[in-house]
Amino acid sequence: MLVSAKEMLTKAKAGKYAVGQFNINNLEWTKAILLTAEELKSPVILGVSEGAGKYMAGYKTVVGMVNGMIEELGITVPVALHLDHGSYEACYKCIDAGFSSVMFDGSHYPIDENVAKTKELVAVCEAKGLSLEAEVGAIGGEEDGVVGAGECADPDECKMIADLGVTMLAAGIGNIHGKYPANWKGLSFETLDAVQQKTGDMPLVLHGGTGIPEDMIKKAISLGVAKINVNTECQLSFAAATRKYIEDGKDLVGKGFDPRKILAPGFEAIKATVKEKMELFGSVGKA
Ligand code: 13P
Repeated sequence: MLVSAKEMLTKAKAGKYAVGQFNINNLEWTKAILLTAEELKSPVILGVSEGAGKYMAGYKTVVGMVNGMIEELGITVPVALHLDHGSYEACYKCIDAGFSSVMFDGSHYPIDENVAKTKELVAVCEAKGLSLEAEVGAIGGEEDGVVGAGECADPDECKMIADLGVTMLAAGIGNIHGKYPANWKGLSFETLDAVQQKTGDMPLVLHGGTGIPEDMIKKAISLGVAKINVNTECQLSFAAATRKYIEDGKDLVGKGFDPRKILAPGFEAIKATVKEKMELFGSVGKA
């Protein structure tokens, strides 16, 4: 059964570790992440962007697939199915479709509008027992064609949004989606520290987990980050393993053209990446 992300993140914040949000794109992705979480006895959050939801034939298809896998694969660790960077409309669609968690990304609205829309969604999610993530200060980089600059959030604005009763808060601290450029200045721990001081127990969310050095990840967790989003890194591992299979000519040998064989190395590569991240984030054995 899907669960809200509230309990797993409250425990993570108190226990000074982070739960990974791994974005899914298809059946192989979902299965690889769920099986790894189960093997490592780690709680997990499956992230679905609006684009990925559309690709997977709609939110209801995703809910059916994930619920089916939890049952058929015997997954016992806590799993939250979470809309990643949702618009106001997409949040309602996912709530209706059976997601257990949504992110309303109102960071591009003026703060008053972000507050008003987030407040409304807090009430809806609370009534249904779902978790809600809000965002202050746009996360940079490109995601689904939307390009941002990597802002640092205003800690007072973070407090305003946190006080509305959201479950978790994504604050921009110089992080960006996708690969980090060579001249990236690193995370702003000054901003993160100030945000945590203002928001207390609120689990903070670090987006753009791909390519952040291990010491920065650990420091971010020590300063209140309890959820870390990873997407691009699984895509890169999957692509590299698939490339190798084809370049080695394995699709040309015997039944090597079978899609289940072609996708197998990528599947294993995702499992390895997710394992590495869960170990780094400290969520192993916390289910
Ligand atoms: P990366 O693609 O950089 O890992 O970021 C993922 C993310 O933050 C999804 O919201």
